[in-house]
Formats: sequence, structure tokens, C-alpha cells
Amino acid sequence: VILKSVSKNPRPGNVPPRCCETDSGMINSIGLANVGLDKFIAEKLPAFAASNPDAVCIASLAGETLDEFLYLAEKLSGSGTIKAFELNISCPNVAKGGMHFGADCNASRQLVEEMKKISSVPVWVKVTPSTTDPVGVATVCAEAGADAVVATNTIPAMKIDITRCRPVLGNTFGGLSGPAIFPASLRIAYMIHRALPELPLVGCGGVDCGEKAVQYILAGCSAVEIGTATFRRPDTLAEVKQFLSDYMEKMGFNSIEEFRGLAAR
Ligand SMILES: Cc1cc2nc3c(=O)[nH]c(=O)nc-3n(C[C@H](O)[C@H](O)[C@H](O)COP(=O)(O)O)c2cc1C
Repeated sequence: VILKSVSKNPRPGNVPPRCCETDSGMINSIGLANVGLDKFIAEKLPAFAASNPDAVCIASLAGETLDEFLYLAEKLSGSGTIKAFELNISCPNVAKGGMHFGADCNASRQLVEEMKKISSVPVWVKVTPSTTDPVGVATVCAEAGADAVVATNTIPAMKIDITRCRPVLGNTFGGLSGPAIFPASLRIAYMIHRALPELPLVGCGGVDCGEKAVQYILAGCSAVEIGTATFRRPDTLAEVKQFLSDYMEKMGFNSIEEFRGLAAR
């Protein structure tokens, strides 16, 4: 389970409305609303661990600067509950940090290098689809020691209310997620795997059924993340798991590793 991104200070998030539906997906401009690190450690983490004792818990870190990322990692490193960090350098809904960080190869490299020096748990990097060179960003992250790359986050988008003649979202722009982005995210995952076949890769974007999870694995991913689909159908995860075992039995695969990346060879 990847927890909602946490920042050093509490963030109220963007002006509402912060979500709207689109064809085959949704647009959100939450703006990384969260309680901030102190309350996250004092309240959210213990509550999560108590109600999900078997879950492998990954903290998503959202810093506006390198120092903030390092501060978050230092404070959370000793928690015991967190098994990996996912660096969110791909949020499209914030003025600082987020995808501005993730579209900059030098900033991404320095961040991962510094994080690897202090982190006691694996460091994953969630890359943005909003750059002309997602493979370049993944490459510098891998060179800097990232333990895995997550491809990808939401794609910047908007919707206009034709009666009010205004943008629907209070923030005007948001990030598109759900099935609408699946083919675009899959392409990026595939390209990253082709360039960096040894790098552990996590597919993210648009998975709403087992068949799409299998496509990410065939593209080279070892795991997939599922977000938007769980709003619509909370049992999506169970369905994906069942589909995967049925698919593997039908195809004669004994492990994910046996078919991971087959479509990219
Ligand atoms: C309401 C909402 C809130 C999100 N918050 C975060 C966040 O805090 N940190 C993050 O890295 N990604 C966040 N995302 C992006 C998702 O984690 C995911 O990368 C994206 O939605 C694509 O996957 P999906 O199509 O399965 O939702 C959020 C997405 C939605 C819809």
C-alpha cells in the first residue's frame, strides 16, 4: 500500500472543486492535501499499521526542495512501519516540487543520490509523464541508485463547464487518471524497460482490470499500482489478483518473472 503523499508541513490542498469525472477517467487537483509529517507519524501511521498489520507500507514523500525530501526521509526512516519510500517528483498540481522537480534530470539525480545516502529502506522514484524524455529521467534515477522506478503519474488536463462558462476545477488544471491514460503510461513503462531492463519497474496509470495489469507486466513491470479504479469499484484489487492467477494458469506461467517483459524482447 502506497500511502497518500506526505509533506513536511500540513497542506490544505487546492481550492475546491478538486475532482471531476471525464470520459474513461477523472481529473483531480487535490494539491497534495495532507496533515503534515508530525501528525502523519503521530496519528496516521500507527492507525494504518494497527488496522492493516500484514500490509507492506510504502510512504510517498512530497518535498518542495531537496532539503525537505531529506528531512522527510530522516524522520520516517526509523519508523519500522515504512518498507520503502516513493519519491513523488511527478505531481502536476503543486507550484513547487512535484513534476517541476521530476522534469529536471540534474535535480532528479541529486535527489536520488542524497536520498540513497541516508535512507535505510529502498528508494522508489515516481516519474512524470509530462516530459519529452521520461527515459532520460528514469536513467539518471537508476544511475543515482534508485531501487525502482514507478511509471507514471497523472497527465495535466482540464474540463470546462459550458453553463458557467468557467473551468470546472477551482485550480483550473488537474491531473488526468484512470483508463484514459493507460495506453500512454504503458508506453512510457515499456520504453523505460527497453532502455533499462535490469531496473525494477512499477506500472501505474489506468489499471482497472487484470488484463491491464498483465499488459504492464508484459511491458516489463514487476508490479502495478492501482488508484482511480478503486473509487469506482473497491474490489478491483481482488479482481486483478484473481485474473492474474487464472491468466498464469491458462498460459502455463509459474511466476510473474516468467512473463515479465516478454512483449519488450
Ligand atoms: C484523488 C487522487 C489523489 C492522488 N494523490 C496522489 C498523491 O498524493 N501522490 C502521488 O504520487 N500520486 C497521487 N495520485 C496519482 C495516483 O497515485 C496515480 O499515479 C494516478 O492516479 C494514475 O493511476 P490510476 O489511473 O490507477 O489512478 C492521486 C490520484 C488521484 C486520482
